[in-house]
Amino acid sequence: MYFKQFLDERVGCASYLIASRQTHEAAIVDPSIETEQYAALLRERGFTLRYLIDTHVHADHVSGARKLAASMPGDVEICLHESARVTYPFRGLRDGDELALGQLRLRVLHTPGHRPELISLLIVNPERSPEPSMMLTGDSLLVGDVGRPDFGGGDAADQYASVTRLLALPDWVAVFPGHFEGPGGKGMCGRPSTTVGFERRFNPIVQLVREVFVTQLAGEVPARPLNITAIEATNRGEADLAWAMLTTSPPVPEIGTEELANRAEDAVVLDVREPAEYDAGRVPGAINLPQADLATRLEELPPHTPLLLVCQGGYGSLRAA
Ligand SMILES: [Fe+2]
Repeated sequence: MYFKQFLDERVGCASYLIASRQTHEAAIVDPSIETEQYAALLRERGFTLRYLIDTHVHADHVSGARKLAASMPGDVEICLHESARVTYPFRGLRDGDELALGQLRLRVLHTPGHRPELISLLIVNPERSPEPSMMLTGDSLLVGDVGRPDFGGGDAADQYASVTRLLALPDWVAVFPGHFEGPGGKGMCGRPSTTVGFERRFNPIVQLVREVFVTQLAGEVPARPLNITAIEATNRGEADLAWAMLTTSPPVPEIGTEELANRAEDAVVLDVREPAEYDAGRVPGAINLPQADLATRLEELPPHTPLLLVCQGGYGSLRAA
């Protein structure tokens, strides 16, 4: 078999290319929007792409699946769990389904929690063993954490059940997550892979009993990331707002409270925190537009007006600006 992990440092996402060296058939899992890296590798290796699999409808980065499918010759199937709500045609996968790549098998496990349609994939290479040697876990089991349930339709109790199921696999199974850093999990350690045995023993949140796990995961969630509403709508095929995924960090001038107090009369102060944070205390006169919804609600802002952005610590408003 051939296996390659791609790490996107800007958004903390991992994607994967798996292929059979015998039949040269390949699958790509959770492709980023920078599709040329996969196309180049497929060309170099002489692989034929069969499956483009999104483990779930992403809300923090734009999927490259449809762009890549459109650029490929031959039949490429876009695959998602059958419950995924998207507007474009796809092959609906169910728990227990197997996708064949030559001798290899990609076995589907439905592991909801981060999102209801999330799947994990066990990779089986029968020539070496009938047992899976590795799995791709999307945003269910992460390295040192589990995926947040608040990115749209997720559920902490489902996440507990899913992660418990994955951790019942043998110790040796290598774990390759959908994220290695970023806002999807609070406690990720930064390593891009791990094993079932290590996580069962040392992942802090999976040590907790069910009730505490659920309370902890469902409570105290950090603010939803920038533009997730727009990115999710794009990945559903309901909008075309790929620009909403931040990929650069241009300089933004900062001002102090004194300057804020003496601002121009027509200046608009935009508070990009979550509504509950805004309700608990705010700059007088500020209007609330959470960073998560910024791209989809931009038209609510008055045009040609000086904008001053505020958040809690400075990072959110910087990115929103
Ligand atoms: Fe995700």
